Amino acid sequence: MREINNIVILTGAGISAESGVATFRGPDGLWEGHRVEDVATPEAFQRDPQLVQTFYDERRAKLKTVHPNAAHKALAKLEAEWGGDFLLITQNVDDLHDRAGSNRLLHMHGELLSGLCLACETRSPVRGRLSDDPACPHCGEVAMRPDIVWFGEMPYQMERIELALAQCDLFVSIGTSGAVYPAAGFVRSAQHYGAQTLEINLDPSEGSLYFDESRLGKAGQLVPVWVEDMLHNG
Ligand code: APR
Repeated sequence: MREINNIVILTGAGISAESGVATFRGPDGLWEGHRVEDVATPEAFQRDPQLVQTFYDERRAKLKTVHPNAAHKALAKLEAEWGGDFLLITQNVDDLHDRAGSNRLLHMHGELLSGLCLACETRSPVRGRLSDDPACPHCGEVAMRPDIVWFGEMPYQMERIELALAQCDLFVSIGTSGAVYPAAGFVRSAQHYGAQTLEINLDPSEGSLYFDESRLGKAGQLVPVWVEDMLHNG
């Protein structure tokens, strides 16, 4: 087995579940009471922009009531203390990794605290409600949509991600169902280039069989244990 220097981590909604942020594919198949296709597609936004803006406004407001948990904090500690290369890729649009102190972090599906101007395509910070129709701080047009990568849209920074996957020695997937591509395919890319692979998830993900090792349980308990092991024995 090759020595581990470069680590790439992918996180999903499961890492924020213990902070009180709803996952996407709950037992009722709904995301906060909505079908995903009614709020997370460009078509939904065209059909009913007010519904979609209000939905994300509510998710953004909810961020003020939630806090990073032990798993977010452990990954920030790993980044700070790990000697080799490190990249944390999250599918989450919350800011809990940021608030936990992660820096080498990439939000591949966008961010609730960001807006995307449909007129000039600039991304800018948003703290309030987009349903109030704020002007774009860059061009002044009233054309801001949530800066969220919806189904059918291209995730951010795919080139950088592919490069990191090709160069990593260990790929770890935490709290994601493995139902949504391209993220669901990262494990096979990493493995193709010779990386070891580990999954930490409450239930086996859809791609569970592709991982060298699966640890099943809550991220808040398992991630800190794994991080301490990496820092002391890694
Ligand atoms: N600890 C670890 N894993 C957990 C926990 C927990 N406390 N709670 C739930 N999980 C697991 C679930 O078992 C599930 O496999 O987290 C996973 C969450 O899966 P999804 O809800 O499908 O979320 P995610 O994989 O992040 O979704 C991917 O789909 O809708 C799109 O763009 C959206 O980024 C999202 C993408």
